[in-house]
Amino acid sequence: MLKKLIVANWKMAPESLAQAEEILDAVNGHIVSEDRDGLLLVFCPPFVFIEEVAKMLSGGPLGRIAALGAQDIAVQDTGAFTGEISGTMLTKLGVRYVIVGHSERRWKLGESDKTVNDKLKAVLRNGLVPIVCLGERTRGGDWEGFLREQVVATFGDLSSGDVSRCIVAYEPVWAISTTPDAQPDTPKSALEAIGVIKDVLATNYKLQTICCLYGGSVASHNAAGFVGVHGIDGVLVGGASVRKEEFVKIISIAYHQK
Ligand code: PGA
Repeated sequence: MLKKLIVANWKMAPESLAQAEEILDAVNGHIVSEDRDGLLLVFCPPFVFIEEVAKMLSGGPLGRIAALGAQDIAVQDTGAFTGEISGTMLTKLGVRYVIVGHSERRWKLGESDKTVNDKLKAVLRNGLVPIVCLGERTRGGDWEGFLREQVVATFGDLSSGDVSRCIVAYEPVWAISTTPDAQPDTPKSALEAIGVIKDVLATNYKLQTICCLYGGSVASHNAAGFVGVHGIDGVLVGGASVRKEEFVKIISIAYHQK
């Protein structure tokens, strides 16, 4: 039985392939020393490292419990779109998961709900698993209304069957480590927001269950709180996933959750 899912979103890091290798070596060494069955790790490196990371993940103990993810996908599968990487290309490289709707792409790079929805369709069309990021920008005002609208706009006209193939990552923008004055979130408030997301999915798509991750400054000091509660199926880790000692600790904490 899958205990917990841990997604490593490396963002625009590390700076070199050698550093990427060091992170994966550290995790590999850790898995050798203890049995990690029941955990699934998804590594989402920058595109330039994907091919090499795929090779590194395929051997050794890591190969048993790790899968490859991408941080983005093109809306189109073919055509002239400078700079884009298609789902067809990702599939050929061994990618199985794709992050869509990350707040940095929404708010820093201007991706609209419509674009996120189109990318979500591209992921599904290519037989990959979407990790759909959702989250309000602040906890003030009508945050719940904002989140509900974002969920509706993100999943849009997808069928219930398609939505059931998605993993949801609740990532409040105000708690993400790179947000200026980021505030620490608590498992209680994360569960409240995840409840809102699940309510929309139950009402609009008749979904009774969906895999839900939490992301937002997850590190070794707070991981137990998030991976240890019923209703959160794992974590999406950004900054701490490229700090190898820190990431290994998070894996260990997740493994030891009952
Ligand atoms: P963080 O990033 O863990 O550095 O806050 C999470 C994310 O943005 O996916």
